[in-house]
Amino acid sequence: MNQNFILPNPWSIIVDHFNKAEVPATESLFSLGNGAMGQRANFEEKYSGESLQGSYIGGIYYPDKTRVGWWKNGYPEYFAKVLNAPNWIGIGIKINNQILDLNTCKIDAYYQELNMKEGWLMRTFMATLSNGSQIQVEAKRFLSLKFNEIGAIKYSLSPLNFDGIIEMAPYIDAGIVNKDANYDEYFWEILDIKSENNIALILSKTLKTNFHVCTAMANEFTLNGQAITLKPKLASKTKKIKFIYKQKLEKNQTLSIIKYATYVQSMNHQSDALCQTAISNLDKARKIGFEALLAYQKQDWAAIWETADIKIEGDVKAQQAIRFNIFQLNQTYLGEDARLNIGPKGFTGEKYGGSTYWDTEAYCIPFYMATKDKHVAKNLLLYRYNHLEKAIENATKLGFSNGAALYPMVTMNGEECHNEWEITFEEIHRNGAIVYGIYNYVNYTGDFEYIPKFGLEVMIGVARFWHQRTNFSKEKNQYVILGVTGPNEYENNVNNNFYTNYLAKWCINFTLETIENLKSSYPSDLDRVLSKTQLNQEELAQMLEVAQNIYLPYSKDYEVFLQQDAFLDKEIVPTEFLPKSQRPINQYWSWDRILRSCYIKQADVLQGVYLFENAFSKDQIRKHFDFYEPLTVHESSLSPCIHAILAAKINRIDKAYEMYLRTSRLDLDDYNHEVAEGCHITSMAGTWMAIVQGFGGMRTHNNALSFNPQIPKQWESYAFNINYRGCVLRVHKTHSGCVFTNKSTQALKIIVDGSILVIEPKGLVKV
Ligand code: BGC
Repeated sequence: MNQNFILPNPWSIIVDHFNKAEVPATESLFSLGNGAMGQRANFEEKYSGESLQGSYIGGIYYPDKTRVGWWKNGYPEYFAKVLNAPNWIGIGIKINNQILDLNTCKIDAYYQELNMKEGWLMRTFMATLSNGSQIQVEAKRFLSLKFNEIGAIKYSLSPLNFDGIIEMAPYIDAGIVNKDANYDEYFWEILDIKSENNIALILSKTLKTNFHVCTAMANEFTLNGQAITLKPKLASKTKKIKFIYKQKLEKNQTLSIIKYATYVQSMNHQSDALCQTAISNLDKARKIGFEALLAYQKQDWAAIWETADIKIEGDVKAQQAIRFNIFQLNQTYLGEDARLNIGPKGFTGEKYGGSTYWDTEAYCIPFYMATKDKHVAKNLLLYRYNHLEKAIENATKLGFSNGAALYPMVTMNGEECHNEWEITFEEIHRNGAIVYGIYNYVNYTGDFEYIPKFGLEVMIGVARFWHQRTNFSKEKNQYVILGVTGPNEYENNVNNNFYTNYLAKWCINFTLETIENLKSSYPSDLDRVLSKTQLNQEELAQMLEVAQNIYLPYSKDYEVFLQQDAFLDKEIVPTEFLPKSQRPINQYWSWDRILRSCYIKQADVLQGVYLFENAFSKDQIRKHFDFYEPLTVHESSLSPCIHAILAAKINRIDKAYEMYLRTSRLDLDDYNHEVAEGCHITSMAGTWMAIVQGFGGMRTHNNALSFNPQIPKQWESYAFNINYRGCVLRVHKTHSGCVFTNKSTQALKIIVDGSILVIEPKGLVKV
């Protein structure tokens, strides 16, 4: 398949041709979402070719059975998956009784656009059916940001060379399955399927988890732009309901259907009020109308872009890519509901089950903090705070005690639901990311109060886990952490992964320092938390002993921290000697061969260098980068962004640019040959970081915002906005300098290349 089929455009994702082989990939890339629900860009009309049908509702999941041959104590019972929800986009089309199916007809012209500026998806095509009828179709749809339970489609069809009967049959199909489901189970139970006043409704509930959802649709028609009333015939089966409308059209007339649809679900409404709420949502949508809803959509996206946009001049592909990343992140999570989170595939596919990973804390929080109000990132932290008890239960199941908390690798509701032992039991570094997220939030927003009110309990639970997970090695005379998987999942069950050990040490130290600090700043909250957690001096002293004496593997020869104790036993051969035909290695090599190789899936030691940059001199950063990057295959989407930031830090701007393109166009250019499964949403936040923290060099330390801007030679300029503690700052970098504009009404102090600058309210400074 041609991996370069998206047309470059600053604000839109466009394809101008139809290629069956590209359909699954475009379904992912052109996905729509509004934070509460999302859907792949499946076609409205029937498509019999290869396709992954997908509509998802935020928070609605199913605990699918864990499928493993050899059960081990502590395995989670289930693997959570966001369920494929009833499909409401479908509109069956028949032309003189022949079904319209792009897989079987001749496509004379085709154009598909995802307009990121305004938040809608459009397809137009001209097609000839086997009966010789040629038609022109335009289909536009969006998921409303303003009314996040509502979506709308306008589907217009014109006969080009005939007069004939056009049938449009909008439907809701609840007979959907998840492609990756175990045992081919069906996860929904239909409770009611009915029509009332030309509204069709399906009330369904998920098995086991009991989420209730009402999916409903209402339809309107125009003929050549004038409203007309068509009488439908109802066709209802056990899991599918449709209205069939027929209209005779003359050549060049246009029949349009406007289909309004809604999902109303029991996380937000009483179960017995769902159908009524669905009906009033549709009444509201019809009253407002398609065009006015679309106008709101444009306004709401304009408001998002106002702060979140990054403008790049002189490199349209880079421009398109960063907007695509920012757009998809905003489609996935808008931060108003602390029960929701950001699955690695968002609403664009089934893989990763729609669940929450450490990606949120390590990658997404910086993006949301800087492009939205701080309550958005706070909601992400509260999500974990609300799961603390489950994290303690999870650790208890594995044999830890006394309130030690192990956050899950993968979760929907706080319970672990990842079922590979080398990840579930061993990839424990995720626990540190949860605390790092708290540190990062407080450090950036200045909202220190979050810690005494909420964060400290989480920090204590995690610090206890690290304390208990270490053991004293007589041989090394230090504390060690055995049997782990670091971020590099291409090595399992290793001892003393530098990143994990360092993070453990840091988590304990941060917790202990914070407790000291709270003694004077928030004494009553501290008392409350200490008494709730029963943390005493003895335990604190033991934790300190561990943190001060944790072992960190180091090579004197290479002057780098080692990824794990035995890393240098491996045959070290840089990736440049790997034949292209064998990459990505995870698609060509046996797992056994991968595990024994020196190849690194994603930043591991370098992830630590990135997070704790201040603990390393620039020379040390360079040495670590030069040792590890040549061994890294970047087969996790989370990898190139960290390398881009570090490369910029050590002034390797060409390398940073190469890594930037790789992270930002990972999906658009399908670097890892897998975009058909869905987009890599969480790593998109890393793309944003690659510009702001990489090229812009933005950091926050000790209540100061600093920059060290650089620009790749391929770009004329770039500009981004940062929301920092109530001020919006615009940074505009060109080859001749950098302009910092303070858009707020209070003065802002920043540090640029080491010098302190104060920017007056509404003022600017050129450097
Ligand atoms: C990465 C993990 C990541 C997960 C979800 C995996 O391929 O190795 O670090 O959390 O994908 O993005």
